Amino acid sequence: MSSRPKVYVTRRVPERIQSQLEELFEVTQHDAEAPPPRSELLAGASGQDGVVSMLSDVIDDEFLEAAGEELQVVANYAVGFDNVDVDACTRRGVIATNTPDVLTAATAELAVTLMLNVARRVGEGDRMLRARTPWIWSPTYMRGATLRGRLLGVVGLGRIGREVARIAEALGMRIVYTKASGTASDVPWEFVSFEEIVERADVISLHCPLTPETRHLVDADVLRAMKRSAYLVNTSRGPVIDEAALAEALETGEIAGAALDVFEREPEVHERLLQCESVVLAPHLGSATHETREAMGMLCVSALKAVLIEGRLPENALNRRITAKITH
Ligand code: GLV
Ligand code: GLV
Repeated sequence: MSSRPKVYVTRRVPERIQSQLEELFEVTQHDAEAPPPRSELLAGASGQDGVVSMLSDVIDDEFLEAAGEELQVVANYAVGFDNVDVDACTRRGVIATNTPDVLTAATAELAVTLMLNVARRVGEGDRMLRARTPWIWSPTYMRGATLRGRLLGVVGLGRIGREVARIAEALGMRIVYTKASGTASDVPWEFVSFEEIVERADVISLHCPLTPETRHLVDADVLRAMKRSAYLVNTSRGPVIDEAALAEALETGEIAGAALDVFEREPEVHERLLQCESVVLAPHLGSATHETREAMGMLCVSALKAVLIEGRLPENALNRRITAKITH
């Protein structure tokens, strides 16, 4: 059985995925929820045919060099792949894959959860009750915002952005969107510029990938241009928002609130955000449901199997052109 392809898995994975991996491959693993230190990551990848990587593992030239000539495929256990230098993979003939589609519903549901939570101050109320703060129902007590009739601005109308818009429509929200590649012809919603979303939206929900163009897309100027009654929701990547500027905007009431599932320096959360009542914080839970994490894992298994056993390009390959090492 030593002829089975060798695969390094950089984290603990759901049981079903573990058994699938072990059935097909000779698995080496960092069997923990916390990431391996960089040196362990590089040593672990050395001499492997395939790698299952996580969003906090940086897959760059240094990593690929450490992995060596044998490496054929890196299956990233996430839809976002800003941690993977796809061009560097392509140059070395390494196929990189992600986990699209299967996490769309779960991530959109979390974005809407956060939106409702911040608008209705659920987290704030929960903290208050646990602190045993005296309270009583009153017409003026702890008011938030009704979302029905409000304008949702979707930044990045990909799979997740569309699903968020669809659910928000069911809540009676109106939708505008912006996306880097221009108008989407197959949706009924109004395409507007990012600047227009910033000025008009009652809720802004971020669904763009992290790229050099979107890093700090939401900065102090953008926050200042938003309505004072507006909410900002981020389930994309932390660095899309300038966190220090956001903390400032929340402290000074420039916007009504924010709900964040992702952070600039994960797992660290900006100290001033931790002190702020008008922000809802979640520990990167977008795709964290039992069924979704299994489906994501199965996509990684299928990608490894396609490349290492079946000798074919997986449907979810990220490389545009590849001089693949597939030789079977
Ligand atoms: C999680 O953030 C993902 O990109 O799948
Ligand atoms: C609200 O500001 C709208 O433009 O619909």
